Amino acid sequence: MKALITAGGHGTRLRPLTYTHNKHLIPIANRPMICRAMDMVTEAGIRDVIINVNKGDTEIRGLVGDGKAWKARVQYIEQEAPLGLAHVVKIAQPYIGKDKFLYFLGDNILAGGVKKYVKEFLKKGSSCHLLLSRVPDPERFGVAEVKKGKIVRTVEKPKEYISNLAVTGVYLYDHHIFEAVKSVKPGAVLPGRQIAELDIPSAHQWLIDHGYKVTFSEVTGWWKDTGKPKDLLEGNQLILSEIQTKIETKDIEPNVLIQGKVRIGQGTKISGRSIIRGPLVIGENCIIKDSYIGPFTSIGNNAQITDGEIEHSIIFNDTSINCSQRIVDSILGEGSIITSCHQTLPSGHQLFVGDNSMVEL
Ligand code: DAU
Repeated sequence: MKALITAGGHGTRLRPLTYTHNKHLIPIANRPMICRAMDMVTEAGIRDVIINVNKGDTEIRGLVGDGKAWKARVQYIEQEAPLGLAHVVKIAQPYIGKDKFLYFLGDNILAGGVKKYVKEFLKKGSSCHLLLSRVPDPERFGVAEVKKGKIVRTVEKPKEYISNLAVTGVYLYDHHIFEAVKSVKPGAVLPGRQIAELDIPSAHQWLIDHGYKVTFSEVTGWWKDTGKPKDLLEGNQLILSEIQTKIETKDIEPNVLIQGKVRIGQGTKISGRSIIRGPLVIGENCIIKDSYIGPFTSIGNNAQITDGEIEHSIIFNDTSINCSQRIVDSILGEGSIITSCHQTLPSGHQLFVGDNSMVEL
């Protein structure tokens, strides 16, 4: 059994974060998404992994390398352009050959891993096994229509309601999928996309129409496609709600109040009248003074926070916050600086914001 992980695409819905970095490097509870994808795949016992990256991408290779950290062998394929999920399968064929494989979209996270679904696929002897999850907004996903316990139709982002069963980004296949993807033609240009892609539901439909065994499992725990900023915050919340306390620094002053489950990295110093209320994670070598860090917050390494109040947010590495305003439901990219407008003259909000940013004042 092999695994094919996607780490390409433009991540347009996550701009401006994705102008400077590949979306799969975005940290969720301080672990880049691509590392979480590698965790899932290897926890399922798969050691032979192929990662699809954009042409010329060096960031993913730089982080995952040859896979030794996961006791895996990782090979990379470069997609000339993000031409669609069926296209990724097509170009991966020489690396997968006749093996069965797990196709894992690198921007998906789900509770409890994928091991049990891999087992189910192998037990059922299907050509294709899909993981379905009930969602309130099926028009955002590939959707499956199920009749009498069987998938009869799969459609990418249907305009009209078919069912509320989203097809998650976890697919299990045998080699017949390579025949199926050959038949996929570019469809319409769907909302949020720049070109007509080779969609994966069309390949599933081909398998159904040609009599191959297509089975499914309904995801029992939570599942998240981290396509939009709101999804990142929700994914962060879901992962943080399952963490266990681990404090690796001794540099916490006695007056600091620590409540709930927290993970705090080495070299981090917390002082003054700070309140640290989990579940949350704070990285290494941060300086936190007279601040409130509230539930469902992830703070990367080397952050400096003074007189700050932050809740339900993702703060990347090397960020500096010094203001007496409450920051909520926010995502701050690497090296961001947030200061109080009272410290500069003339007073007023001074903004230095990249393309496609979102600021609420
Ligand atoms: O998350 C589940 C959904 O994922 C499914 O329900 C949809 O059927 C499926 O098309 C996909 O929809 P998205 O709109 O979320 O796909 P997105 O363009 O975000 O790409 C998903 C992953 O694949 C992400 O890791 C980026 C990567 N990718 C995408 C394309 C189009 C590539 O590596 N190459 C590509 O050509």
